[in-house]
Amino acid sequence: MTTSNAAIPESLVPVLEQVDATLDASRERMLELLRIPSISTDPEYAGETRRAAEWCARELADIGFDASVRDTAGHPMVLAKNDGPPGAPHLLYYGHYDVQPPDPLDLWHSAPFEPVVMASDHGEKVVARGAVDDKGQLLTFVEAFRAWREVHGTLPARITVLLEGEEESGSPSLDAFLEAHRDELDCDVCLISDSDMWDVDTPAITYMLRGLLYAQIRLHGPSHDLHSGIYGGAVINPITALTRVLAQLHDDDGVVQIPGFYDDVREIGDDERRQWQSLGFDEQGFVAGAGLDRSTGEHGRSVLERTWSRPTCELNGIWGGYIGEGAKTVIPAHASAKVSCRLVADQDPSAVYDGLMRFLEERTPPGCRWEVTPFGMEPAIRVPTESRYLEAARAGLLAAFGKPPVLIGSGGSIPVVGAFQKKLGFDSILVGFGLEDDRMHSPNEKFELKCFERGIRAHVAMLGSFGAMAASS
Ligand code: BES
Ligand code: MN
Ligand code: MN
Repeated sequence: MTTSNAAIPESLVPVLEQVDATLDASRERMLELLRIPSISTDPEYAGETRRAAEWCARELADIGFDASVRDTAGHPMVLAKNDGPPGAPHLLYYGHYDVQPPDPLDLWHSAPFEPVVMASDHGEKVVARGAVDDKGQLLTFVEAFRAWREVHGTLPARITVLLEGEEESGSPSLDAFLEAHRDELDCDVCLISDSDMWDVDTPAITYMLRGLLYAQIRLHGPSHDLHSGIYGGAVINPITALTRVLAQLHDDDGVVQIPGFYDDVREIGDDERRQWQSLGFDEQGFVAGAGLDRSTGEHGRSVLERTWSRPTCELNGIWGGYIGEGAKTVIPAHASAKVSCRLVADQDPSAVYDGLMRFLEERTPPGCRWEVTPFGMEPAIRVPTESRYLEAARAGLLAAFGKPPVLIGSGGSIPVVGAFQKKLGFDSILVGFGLEDDRMHSPNEKFELKCFERGIRAHVAMLGSFGAMAASS
């Protein structure tokens, strides 16, 4: 670490030493979890997904938690509890053990579920699907609990752990589970490690996330696939018709054309804009990391503004007709696309959805019809930037990094944060240890071992600060 031990409270020192002394074993456990292909969106992997849940529950039971795998209508949840000293806060730690599909497989340099450790810009990294999102990150708090327990025999706060197995597939069972277990989950605050640091040396607390609305749309034309010579020129081609409609989603300046799309969008304040500017974000480096030489988007707005505070409409997939080897002369019966909108405060997801439906209906090509399958919608969320719990987390991060955390937004979405706020009435503190070049959801996803280690140490230090609240309350 770059920090001097002087900034670290006495009681943490032996725990941090334990973290360092047992880091190899922590790393081995991470590799073990990464070997389980818990792809939640693909029913073929349901057994593996459950195996990952069982693995997590076993690890938590090993370090003294009352841990169980709880069935849902979909993939199971892992729920684990550990009592704390009287007066100490009740903390809920959330993570997800499911991962995105590894596709496209041919772009991986090693097998996605055979993790490899290799040299990186920051020392060493582990490459595997789920390394940063979220298996490696959820283990940062589990390993912190382990080290604390090994040194002190108990934990300094009452702790409940909730690990979800459907985060990457829209959390279909989450709301019902929260309803059914509201008493068990009732806590003072939730901690989530499923986001990014500012950079490898600078911790960050994410205080805003964009929402998400996702739909699959299909344009139906002819009743069946047609010979493009016999029918071509005389009937509509659904692929051509669909792409013409989709091309109208944005104007030439990238402004989304869905009716009412920007009506409820809240502009950020001058203070916020200044704070974001003061972060000194490297736009050129950011786009270079994506293999590009410039950013695009709404005029007159910085990259941080565009990704943290502006809504988008994106095409995530498009298909239709013949896409196999060679040529096939066909006019397909239908063409499809996956469309998603990132939402910001104060957009109402169902109003945006209605707007999207109107946009499509007003442009229905002659003789065609739309079929729309919604995949769920989540509003944008914000969490408080001031609270005694947040102060404790800040103090812990300062101790662990020798540097205070910066407050950041994020363009990504974590549905559970809004569900906790709305259904159970508590807030979350998002302290993540990913880096922007970790290739979340992409081939060759990785997690820096330095971030893993720093994440564990940070959770140890934050635990210490939360524990100290007992004495002061
Ligand atoms: N961990 C990510 C979200 C994230 C990434 C937050 C980086 C902050 C920084 C999460 O697993 C995720 O991928 N969420 C999905 C939404 C979900 C409903 C599929 C997303 O943002 O696309
Ligand atoms: Mn995640
Ligand atoms: Mn994800």
